[in-house]
Amino acid sequence: VFGSSGDLHIVNKDIAPDGVTRSTILAGGVFPGPLISGNKGDQFHINVVDDLTDTSMGVSTSIHWHGIFQHGTNYEDGSASVTQCPIQPGDSFQYDFSVPDQAGTFWYHSHVGVQYCEGLSGPFVVYDGPNGVNDPHRALYDVDDGSPSRYHDTARQVADTLLAPLANSTLINGMGRFFENLCSQPTAPLAVITVSPGKRYRFRVISISCDPNFTFSIDGHNLTIIEADGVNTQPLTVNSILILAAQRYSVILETNQPVNNYWMRAEPDAAGPQGFEGGINSAILRYEGAPDAEPTTSMQANIIPLNEVDLHPLESPGAPGIPVPNGADVVLNFTLGFDGGLFFMNGVRFIPPSVPVLLQILSGAQRAQDLLPQGSVFDLPLGKVIEINLFGHNALGDPHPFHLHGHAFDVVKSAGSNFYNFIDPVRRDTTGVIQGRTTTIRFTTDNVGPWFLHCHIDFHLDAGLAVVLAEGVEEVSSALHPVSAWNNLCPSYMSSNIST
Ligand code: C2O
Repeated sequence: VFGSSGDLHIVNKDIAPDGVTRSTILAGGVFPGPLISGNKGDQFHINVVDDLTDTSMGVSTSIHWHGIFQHGTNYEDGSASVTQCPIQPGDSFQYDFSVPDQAGTFWYHSHVGVQYCEGLSGPFVVYDGPNGVNDPHRALYDVDDGSPSRYHDTARQVADTLLAPLANSTLINGMGRFFENLCSQPTAPLAVITVSPGKRYRFRVISISCDPNFTFSIDGHNLTIIEADGVNTQPLTVNSILILAAQRYSVILETNQPVNNYWMRAEPDAAGPQGFEGGINSAILRYEGAPDAEPTTSMQANIIPLNEVDLHPLESPGAPGIPVPNGADVVLNFTLGFDGGLFFMNGVRFIPPSVPVLLQILSGAQRAQDLLPQGSVFDLPLGKVIEINLFGHNALGDPHPFHLHGHAFDVVKSAGSNFYNFIDPVRRDTTGVIQGRTTTIRFTTDNVGPWFLHCHIDFHLDAGLAVVLAEGVEEVSSALHPVSAWNNLCPSYMSSNIST
């Protein structure tokens, strides 16, 4: 267990998580990376040391703390090209931030190119007090003990090449099977999650996918959702969860079935291998006392899927602003487009600027039109209600998981719904956008600095599906007081360029 402070070495390593050896980039030399955890209110000090040598996958890096607000610490967000320059090999960057007002399930990953697809990611959990003592849902579960074997369940793809549109394998807790053809029965070991009977477990499901969305289920068991993306929800019982790249759910699983082995399934959309033959897309839920064997269970006959509109926050502040469409102080409309292998937001492809947006602001740029990349930065005044409409134009059919840094937002209109909900919409940090439909989110600008808004299919971000929202630009130099010197963010960018 890593805890909340220490050195996190970023290394190259050959591993075979699905039975086929490949080179990777790993945090702490393990996949997924070590669990970083603390309690609400803790200060985190993570010194990221770049030990990378394999130039074929890129040797500079950064770590983004996905879902952590970074109130007043925009410069610790870890987004290369937005808040800092990439960390260079042989260098290190110490991330210092506190988490005063959030508890739940987060993750960390590289924010350079498509580097997290090479393995650089891990779980990040903030407990609501020691052992979750202040968690309003604490009475609903018996076990949430941080043991990796039954704790964070992560599904990801392994792509052989970055250009491969298809994932080869699905991994759960870093294990899975590559299934080539019927003649080569796969044998790589699967993750085994061991549970004792008669208990209620909190499982934290994190999608560290680079592309596919996954339908997650466990044979014979219901899943009661109590948290989505770091925000407590009213309990909602389902047995099948569609989880998009970067989304997280805490679910309660009651071990109320006969002692046995049960399949845990994470089936990808068309971007990954289909079906469950030979144990692909699967892990094993094993009751103590069950034989050391693979399950023979089948999927539930009655599928109760999660529908995002059925999720409601536990404490329901309602969406900010006037409860009608366009009833916000600022309304931004974005159309997602796809053309010639590239992606566009309102016709503009995001091209990472050589000087990160934050550093541009500190150097004196004040207006969106002065901030690079041109046409991709939008400045937002502080203390306003923002409504963003994301319309999927010619954007391929699949749900595009849109993530906003620095905030959780209210999903007042889910992509799959025809209705607005301003009263008790789910509040989260990643939601889907579908071709031909509009997703509408709202939030209040209370967090100074530039924040990425982007598709979390990493190949799409790399191909331009992103914008930057620069919040309170004029406040940046007075409101942000970095622990480290500004020029640590970009040692190569002369501090004399910074006009603070
Ligand atoms: Cu998971 Cu830009 O982030």
